Amino acid sequence: MEIRITGQRLWTFRSPLLVLPAFQGTRRPEGDLKSLDDVSEGWISRVLASGDFRGKWGETLVQHTFGALPSKRVMFLGLGEIDKWSLDRWRGALARAAQAARRLGVRRFGVSLKASPPPSASLEELAGAAVEGMELGLYRFEGIRSEDPEKDPDPHEVTLLPGTQKGRTRIDLAVREARLVSETVRWVRDLVSEPANRMTPTLLAERAEEMARQWGIKHRVLDEDDIASLGMGGLLGVASGSKEPPRLIVLEHEADDPRAPKVALVGKGITFDSGGISLKPAQKMDQMKTDMAGGAAVLGVIQAAARLRLPVNLVGVVPATENLPSGKAYKPGDVLTTLSGRTIEVTNTDAEGRVILADALSYALRFEPDLLIDLATLTGACIVALGDRIAGMMGNASEVLEALRRAGESTGEMVWPLPLPEDYEEYIKSEVADMKNSGGRDAGTIQGGLFLQKFVGGKPWVHLDVAGPVWTEKDRPYAPKGATGFGVRLLVAFLKGFRGIGKGSV
Ligand code: BES
Ligand code: MN
Ligand code: ZN
Repeated sequence: MEIRITGQRLWTFRSPLLVLPAFQGTRRPEGDLKSLDDVSEGWISRVLASGDFRGKWGETLVQHTFGALPSKRVMFLGLGEIDKWSLDRWRGALARAAQAARRLGVRRFGVSLKASPPPSASLEELAGAAVEGMELGLYRFEGIRSEDPEKDPDPHEVTLLPGTQKGRTRIDLAVREARLVSETVRWVRDLVSEPANRMTPTLLAERAEEMARQWGIKHRVLDEDDIASLGMGGLLGVASGSKEPPRLIVLEHEADDPRAPKVALVGKGITFDSGGISLKPAQKMDQMKTDMAGGAAVLGVIQAAARLRLPVNLVGVVPATENLPSGKAYKPGDVLTTLSGRTIEVTNTDAEGRVILADALSYALRFEPDLLIDLATLTGACIVALGDRIAGMMGNASEVLEALRRAGESTGEMVWPLPLPEDYEEYIKSEVADMKNSGGRDAGTIQGGLFLQKFVGGKPWVHLDVAGPVWTEKDRPYAPKGATGFGVRLLVAFLKGFRGIGKGSV
């Protein structure tokens, strides 16, 4: 969708549809809405007084202007109660407007950013969140069909109206950034939605390489032989049950200033998780094509960082493999030797994520990062604890945990801390190896965190268990049913403010 900005006044704007956001209980037009009302000789007032528009969050009311205004139609867009206002609710409301415009068959529309000025938020924030809401709200996975189904065509042009020429130049950068980030999130959603037979480790690595070439990102893919000769017994062990060979995807974004801090991002890339010999139940097993969503998010963050030229050095490491049972599969009781030299007793082949991440974290340490962040759909227990909207967050770098929490608030990609108590390491003590990969149901998410911590070499590190929020079973305003692309906007927002550990800026 093309996004334009005009400094034009609202009442001179001519378009098939003009979107006017308004709070719940708006009875009399004020501000820009008042000027619009005057020009239309009270048309706005009459619509508002009709009572048809209540202003509930995400509500839309479309009315023909029949010449009362230059635009053919007006869409009143509910922002909900003014006291509940947040940037994320604004983002969601704009998604609803874009979806309603699509249902109407409108290909071109304008959005006023100033019709109802919110209590807090800069014009830049409003513009950026509006673009994200619309671009992400209009997303749909095209699917794989022999014939295209009947569907409403997407709008191809939206014009933002900040109200003045000065506003126009002010929001220009924010709009470009939001567009680019939304494009990346849509790309990540596509990767995650793709069925596992079309998103094998090899194909995932190819998509990563193709993307890296497109944006001039340094990249390298290690194949099975490389992985074996390095001694990544964890990744090899999990991959052993499948005919599809594993891959280790490595991407690097270099800041213009080489002294910029370096962050390593590690993402779980299980392209299908059957559980292996510790087989999962059949019900919803198809869902396990999403077990590479952490890895896909890492690829997205690197992509966005390169395109935004973020002033931070990034390394992205994505270990990719299937987890399947077979005559060659790794088995409960097996002991694997990882790249770090440490050994893992496999007590459950379905706790495979931590096993491949162990090797990937060790590999990432070779780049001497100042900070490690991993994203992984690691435990069902995390969904039990926090549901499908909030990621579990564990780690040893308190200032980073706090900065991520704040990034979560501004982006709507929420994270919540869980502790890593030392005595809980009891759960993953092994009789035969340095540790075991699963210690029963209790504190399942924390066990995962404690396990990973053993492979970060004491470096500042944060683990995000994203099992819940990477997928939604219900339509949400700007995340239609399916893959959400969770993590990209969160980490981009965090990295924008990251100046290094102990620099007080995060
Ligand atoms: N990929 C799953 C976790 C998961 C479950 C993600 C449901 C999204 C939805 C992970 O590999 C897994 O199977 N974890 C086990 C760990 C257990 C065996 C210790 C789990 O959660 O049951
Ligand atoms: Mn599993
Ligand atoms: Zn898994």
